[in-house]
Amino acid sequence: MVWEKVLEKFQEIFGSEGEIGVYFAPGRVNMIGEHTDYNGGHVFPCALTIGTYGVARKRADKKLRFYSMNFEKLGVIESLVEGLKPEKEADWTNYPKGVIWAFGEKGMKVEQGMDLLLFGNIPNGSGLSSSASVEVLTGFILRDLFGFQVTNQDLALIGQYSENKFNGVNCGIMDQFAIAMGKKGHAIFLDTATLNYEYAPIKLEHAKIVISCSNKKRGLGDSKYNERRAECERALAQLQEAVKIDSLGELTWDAFEQYKDAIKDEICRKRAKHAVYENQRTIQAVKDLKNNDLTDFGQLMNESHVSLRDDYEVTGVELDTLVEEAWKIDGVIGSRMTGAGFGGCTVSIVKDEAVDLFIEKVGSAYRDKIGYAADFYVVEIGDGPVKLA
Ligand code: GLA
Repeated sequence: MVWEKVLEKFQEIFGSEGEIGVYFAPGRVNMIGEHTDYNGGHVFPCALTIGTYGVARKRADKKLRFYSMNFEKLGVIESLVEGLKPEKEADWTNYPKGVIWAFGEKGMKVEQGMDLLLFGNIPNGSGLSSSASVEVLTGFILRDLFGFQVTNQDLALIGQYSENKFNGVNCGIMDQFAIAMGKKGHAIFLDTATLNYEYAPIKLEHAKIVISCSNKKRGLGDSKYNERRAECERALAQLQEAVKIDSLGELTWDAFEQYKDAIKDEICRKRAKHAVYENQRTIQAVKDLKNNDLTDFGQLMNESHVSLRDDYEVTGVELDTLVEEAWKIDGVIGSRMTGAGFGGCTVSIVKDEAVDLFIEKVGSAYRDKIGYAADFYVVEIGDGPVKLA
């Protein structure tokens, strides 16, 4: 069991006395609906069975002690529950610290310190939400240790708040929501304008979800994420002069075509086009899935990638190579980049009999073109956060 090893490490680093809890929060993959969650659109993510393990113990004083098995060289990082602020030289502890800070901002002041050790088996910075996983996990642990009255949906919102305000990334709600509300075997069809959601079973008879990780690292903070968001806001402000809407997600394809000339700047028009079309694709994709039309669902995934490549411009040669090589293989139902983009991962639905060939062919074409290897994960859809022991 992974968690037993993580617990052992905690005892080695922090000692074995007192009451120790062992927890897990998943990572997530988004099937379709990219860069729609800050535009009032729909998303369709699911939680994974890979994620972040956390071992924690409440302390009697106000000290925070952190240790990550993924960043062992950093050793134990210490801080205090009071006066938390983001450090310029950011390390991973900015995520749990941000959540402790955010609880305080929401009226749930953490008065005592804790020892926290983490181990993640999601590749860091890969677009599978390792940071949101740490945020939701921290919130889940705080609730358990200190008895705060918050729902899992609250944990998602607090995680997003901490990422926005403490870590300076203007992310939407998708990642934290998918992680906090995950359900085995299901994706979550979430309307980010209202937070209404529905679980949709993913029944991939004779097919698998394959994640291809480009190994091109990116941090959301230093990527163009905030810039894309600002471009969409500019487009919305100009559209609002022509049509009464609160978000781009309210527009249908037809309405967008009717009003698009109100957006003066061509770049902003392209960004808005993606947001509108991607939202409509997501709504359609969920209908297809309900009708067991996986072929159409896959086609929409492919179209999503093209739009992210050409109109939203968040792919890059690494993700494009992974996807374009995937499209060449018989047995690939659909393939697209997933997450923020600019590096990270792609998600593909691949027929069982084609999975080995997929990994071999896409892997070697990628190595030839990009000069280093990609990693492949055949993933399962798992539950939200849990206490394991
Ligand atoms: C990141 C953000 C999400 C979402 C995606 C793009 O994962 O954290 O809120 O915007 O990018 O769909």
